Amino acid sequence: MSEDKAKLTGPDLTKGVALSTIREGIMLLGHAHGEPALLARRGDEVFAIGAVCTHYGAPLEQGLLVDDTVRCQWHHACFSLRSGEALRAPALNPVSCWRVEQRDEIAYVREKLETAGRQPPAVEPRTPGSIVILGGGAAGNAAAEMLRREGYAGRITMLSADESLPCDRPNLSKGYLSGAAPEETNPLRSAEFYRDHRIDLKLLARATSIDTANRHVQLVDGSRYAYDALLLATGADPVRLEVPGADLPHVHYLRTVGDSRALIAKAATSRRAVVIGASFIGLEVAASLRTRNIEVHVVAPEACPMEHILGREVGQFFRTFHEQHGVKFHLGATVTSIDRQGVTLKSGEHLEAGLVVVGIGVRPVISLAEQAGLAIDRGVAVNEYLETSVPGIFAVGDIARWPDRLTDERIRVEHWVVAERQGQTAARNILGRRERFDCVPFFWTEQYDFGLGYVGHAERWDKVDIAGSLEARDCTVSYWLGGRKLAVAIIHRDLEGLRAEVEFERRMAAKEAPG
Ligand SMILES: Cc1cc2nc3c(=O)[nH]c(=O)nc-3n(C[C@H](O)[C@H](O)[C@H](O)COP(=O)(O)OP(=O)(O)OC[C@H]3O[C@@H](n4cnc5c(N)ncnc54)[C@H](O)[C@@H]3O)c2cc1C
Ligand code: FES
Repeated sequence: MSEDKAKLTGPDLTKGVALSTIREGIMLLGHAHGEPALLARRGDEVFAIGAVCTHYGAPLEQGLLVDDTVRCQWHHACFSLRSGEALRAPALNPVSCWRVEQRDEIAYVREKLETAGRQPPAVEPRTPGSIVILGGGAAGNAAAEMLRREGYAGRITMLSADESLPCDRPNLSKGYLSGAAPEETNPLRSAEFYRDHRIDLKLLARATSIDTANRHVQLVDGSRYAYDALLLATGADPVRLEVPGADLPHVHYLRTVGDSRALIAKAATSRRAVVIGASFIGLEVAASLRTRNIEVHVVAPEACPMEHILGREVGQFFRTFHEQHGVKFHLGATVTSIDRQGVTLKSGEHLEAGLVVVGIGVRPVISLAEQAGLAIDRGVAVNEYLETSVPGIFAVGDIARWPDRLTDERIRVEHWVVAERQGQTAARNILGRRERFDCVPFFWTEQYDFGLGYVGHAERWDKVDIAGSLEARDCTVSYWLGGRKLAVAIIHRDLEGLRAEVEFERRMAAKEAPG
C-alpha cells in the first residue's frame, strides 16, 4: 500500500454512500480511487471533489459550503464543486473532481473528470494581441496564469525586477525564515511552468518608463516591450530607515527571496537580533528568529504592537505572547543610530546586536505610474474593473486603490490574497469581461504556533467586541463603525472567518439589488 493510501480515512466512496447520510450543508470525508475525497450535497445534486486544498493542504471537509463551492478555512481559497476549479486564490491549482452517479438512493463516486478545472470559455473577439505584465509577484503571476486559463492565446510577457521566480512571499518571514519550510517551498511555479504556458518571464528586468502614447515599456538596459494591454503589478518596497549606520551590512530588510536568504545566512552566526518595527513583518521575523534560538529585541515607537490594525486588546495579547517566547520589547522608543555592535535608542540606551532587521512598513511602487501620467491617489487609482485612468492599462495588488463596496471607500491594502485575486479579475477584464472587483479583503499572520485571520477592512472603528477568549486563543474580534461591522479577526475560529466573508459578500451584493 502506498503512503498516501495509508493516510486515507472514512468510507470508500466508490462503493456507494446512502443519500440519506449526506446532509445538506455537511461534507462527508472519504476516499475515491486512492485519493482523499469529499462528498457534498446541494439540493438534489451530489458532488465529489478532492479533499485537500491545493494551497497549503488544509482538509477541505472542514471548510464551508457556499452555493456550489467549497471555501477553504485556512486562507479562503474557493473551489467549484462542479469542476474542482480553484475559482479564487490563493489556491492556483484545481482539486480532483469525480462524476457521481445516484442509483436506488445511493451515491456512487465514479471516474475522475479529466477536465478538472474546466474548459476555457471562448475568448472575446477583440482581445489584445500582446499583454505585458509589469511585476512578477502575487498579482502579476496570478494574472498571467488566469489569462491562459481563460483561453488567451496571444503573447504574455511578465517583467520582474526580482532575481527569483515569482515566490510565495508570506513564506519568507514564516516557514522559510524559521527553518520549517525548505527552499523549494518559495517559488509559486517552476521555470518549466512558465515555458509550458508560453508566459515569457523576464527576471532582473527592471522597467524605467512607460510610453502610453506608443504603448511600450522601456527597461533599464534599454530594451523595449510593446503592449496592447498593460498590467501594472509593481508591489511595494520596504520603507528605508534613515539614521546613521542604516546602510551597514548587518542591517537587513525583507521583501524578496534573496533578502530572506541573506537574513538566514546572517542569523546562522548571530546570537542576538534587534528588530525595528512591531507590525506584522517585524513580529513574524521576531518569531522566526526566536525559533532559531536567537535572542530578539523589538524596538517600536508605538505603546502597543499592532494596536492601529487590531486594537489594544489584541495588540497586548501579541506582546504578552511574544514575551512568553522570550522577546524583549522596547516600545515608545526610536532608533537614532546603528553601529557594528548594535543600535542606539533615543533614550541613549544601546542594544547590542549582530543582526538588525528593519520592518517599518512598505511604500507602493508607483513611480512608473506617476511618470506615465496615470491618476494617482495614495497608490494607483483604478475603477471597479481595476482599470487605471488610461484605458488598456490596469493596476493590481499593493499599488492599487479601488472603490470598495464594503466600506464605500477607496481602499488600498497590502494582502497576498487580495493581490492574487485582483490579478485574476484584471486578467479577465483585459480580455473584455467587465467583471467588478468585489472581493472581501482577507489576510493572515502566523507567529510561532499561532495564527490569526482577518476578514474585511477597518481603518478606524468606534467599537470592538470580543466573542470568546483571547487568552484561551479561541475568539472572534469584531470591528464596528457607526453600527456597521467592518471587519473581524479570528483566532482558531476558521469557520467564523468564512461566515464573516459570506456575510460581507451578501452585504455588498445587496447594494446592487434593485430598489
Ligand atoms: C515577508 C513578507 C510576508 C508577508 N506575509 C503576508 C501574509 O502572511 N499575509 C498577507 O496577506 N500578506 C503578506 N504579505 C504581503 C504580500 O506579500 C503582498 O501584499 C503581495 O506580495 C503583493 O503582491 P503584488 O503582486 O502587488 O507585489 P509583489 O508580490 O511585491 O510583486 C511586485 C513585483 O513587481 C516587480 N517590480 C517592481 N518594480 C518593478 C520595475 N520597475 N520593473 C519590473 N518589475 C518591478 C518586483 O520585482 C516584483 O516582481 C507579506 C509580505 C512580505 C514581504
Ligand atoms: S490551505 Fe487552503 S487556502 Fe491556504
